[in-house]
Amino acid sequence: MGGGSLEKGFLDIPIDFSLDLFAEINKLKKEKNAIILAHYYQDADIQDIADYIGDSLGLSQEAAKTNADIIVFAGVHFMAETAKILSPNKKVLLPDLRAGCSLADSCPADKFSEFKKLHPDHLVISYINCTADLKTLTDIVCTSTNAVQIVENLPKDQKIIFAPDKNLGAYINKKTRRNMLLWDGACMVHEIFSLEKIVKLKNQHPGALLLAHPECEANLLEIADYICSTTGILNYATKSDAKEFIVATEAGIIHQMQLKNPGKTFIPAPPNNSCACNDCPHMKLNTLEKLYNCLKYEQPEIILSADLIEKAKKPIIRMLDLSKQFGL
Ligand code: 13P
Ligand code: SF4
Repeated sequence: MGGGSLEKGFLDIPIDFSLDLFAEINKLKKEKNAIILAHYYQDADIQDIADYIGDSLGLSQEAAKTNADIIVFAGVHFMAETAKILSPNKKVLLPDLRAGCSLADSCPADKFSEFKKLHPDHLVISYINCTADLKTLTDIVCTSTNAVQIVENLPKDQKIIFAPDKNLGAYINKKTRRNMLLWDGACMVHEIFSLEKIVKLKNQHPGALLLAHPECEANLLEIADYICSTTGILNYATKSDAKEFIVATEAGIIHQMQLKNPGKTFIPAPPNNSCACNDCPHMKLNTLEKLYNCLKYEQPEIILSADLIEKAKKPIIRMLDLSKQFGL
C-alpha cells in the first residue's frame, strides 16, 4: 500500500481540515479489519477512538488474541514490537516510529550481554519496557502488574538479574525480600516527580490518597498510599471511598480515571520543573492526525526478523502463561 516518506519517522501527509477524523478512522478500521490498541498515557482523543485501552500487560494479552488483520499501536516502540512478536502474521503499525522509551534506551543489548556474562548463574528477568533485542537475552519478561508475583514464584535461592528499571527492581526486592542484581536504568517521567511539591500537596489536601507507579523513586513510594501499575491505580481509585487522589504516574491516565469516576478529583503529581503535570514526551509523539495517516497508508510498520521474533517470544510467552496461572 503506497504512502509518503518516513524520513521524519511518521507520514507527514497534509490532512483535509474539514475531515471528521473520528468518523474517518472508524470507517478505515472497519474497511481494513484493524484495531487500535492504546496505552493509558496516550492523548485523550486517541484513548477515545481506541478499541482497547490498557497497561502493558493488558495490551500484550490483547495483541496476542486479536482477530484483526492490522494492529495500530498507540503507544511506544517496545509495545508495538511486543505486539508484532505475539502476532507475527499481522501488520503492526506505530503512528510515529520515534516514539521510544528512556527506560528501554537505558539498557543496550550489547552492554547488557557483557554484564550477563559476568553472572552466568543468574536468571534474567526483564521489565517489558525494553527492546526486542534485550528480550532475546531474557528468561522471563514481566510488567508492573505481575513483577512481584513472578519473582515471588521463583525458588528463594534463585539468583536473579533484573533489568532495566532500578526503581521497579528495588521495589520488588523490598516486597519479596530478595537481593536481585539491578541494571542501572530509569524512566525519565517517573524519576522527576518532586517529593517536596507532593508533600506540600498532601498537606493542602489531607484527605487525598497518593497513588504511585512502581517506576517512581523509593522516597516517593515510601509515602504512597497505594503502589501499582496504571490499571491497578485506575481500579483502586474506582473502588476506593476516597474522593481525592494525587496521581504519581504519567498524566494521561487521569482521562480514564475521570471518565470512570466523575464525582472524584484527580490531581496530577507535579514534577521538579515548571510543569504542573508529567507527560511522557515519547508517548505524546502520537497524535490523532498521525494515527489517521498511519491507518490510511499502513505505515510506519514494525518489521522484525523471524529469528528475532522467535527468540524474543519465549520470555514473553512465559510471562503470559504465568499471568494466566496467577489469574491476572
Ligand atoms: P504499565 O503500563 O505497566 O502501568 O507501565 C507504565 C509505563 O511506563 C509504560 O511505559
Ligand atoms: Fe518509557 Fe517512561 Fe515513557 Fe513509559 S513513561 S514509555 S517507561 S519513558
